[in-house]
Amino acid sequence: MNNPKKTQRVALVTGASSGIGKATALALVNEGYVVYPVARRVEIMDDLKAIGCIPIKMDVTKEEDVVAVVEQIECDHGGVDILVNNAGLSVYGSVEETDIDNARYQFDVNFFGLGRLTQLVLPHMREQRWGKIINVSSGEGKVHAPLAAWYVSSKFALEGFSDCLRAETAQFGIDVVVVRPGAIDTEITGGFIDPLLETSGSGPYGDIARKMADWFRNMGAEKGTASPPSVIADTILEAIKSSRPKTRYAAGIGVRQAIFFKRILSDRMFDRFMMRMLG
Ligand SMILES: NC(=O)c1ccc[n+]([C@@H]2O[C@H](COP(=O)([O-])OP(=O)(O)OC[C@H]3O[C@@H](n4cnc5c(N)ncnc54)[C@H](OP(=O)(O)O)[C@@H]3O)[C@@H](O)[C@H]2O)c1
Repeated sequence: MNNPKKTQRVALVTGASSGIGKATALALVNEGYVVYPVARRVEIMDDLKAIGCIPIKMDVTKEEDVVAVVEQIECDHGGVDILVNNAGLSVYGSVEETDIDNARYQFDVNFFGLGRLTQLVLPHMREQRWGKIINVSSGEGKVHAPLAAWYVSSKFALEGFSDCLRAETAQFGIDVVVVRPGAIDTEITGGFIDPLLETSGSGPYGDIARKMADWFRNMGAEKGTASPPSVIADTILEAIKSSRPKTRYAAGIGVRQAIFFKRILSDRMFDRFMMRMLG
């Protein structure tokens, strides 16, 4: 293994072809980190390459891709010091009507992809007794919503996983941090409205599905109903730079309020609050 004397921390950012991941890669490279942004659409990371990042094509659900990326970074720079597990997608639709293969894929990307990558970077972090693992959850890692069971449960799983990981790796100088974005203006929202309506728009859950689709259509930074991705990139940077980061950060429009109401309301009151929010 080529192991040059390290002067810079090395960061691997997943889901960096758009949205929060791209903003995070940008923020990190501007701060002087060595940054490997990864995603399937490597061709739309040329802008990151132009400013010094090292983009690599990686599908988080493919074992050979994940192993190859970690091996390349070990070979180039000794290993991954900072892992930002950000890649994700949203499968929305009622529990009943969602195709179970789509539900499984939701977990493959949002949960098992993150888990496998974490396994692969831990030996290096443990040996050097330093590492940061930032897991991008969601307000929905704490707060439930109708027609979001598969997405919400993948993020709830990520949250429990992160707590266990933090408890078992703190002894090796590894920090595990959960970041919960609120409404952020990225591709993810536009990407799930049509599938949501295809799954649940005309069946027994159609009324909620259509209201939800309208709610998400109204989400955008220019309308003041969503924050720009840089808000989350700045939060991730804060967690990385802190010598004693919080275990959880929440940033972006609506997330702190939603978590507050979840804490103070009973489950049934929160259900009603959610339905009223959707109109
Ligand atoms: N936007 C929000 O309001 C919001 C709120 C709460 C939480 N989040 C979370 O924030 C994270 C980032 O989402 P975003 O909002 O920035 O959305 P986005 O712009 O759609 O970005 C998602 C990223 O994930 C990557 N990705 C998806 N499937 C992948 C796969 N199989 N392998 C590798 N990469 C994959 C995509 O890249 P390729 O398609 O090129 O592979 C893309 O770069 C997600 O975990 C999401 O759950 C977002």
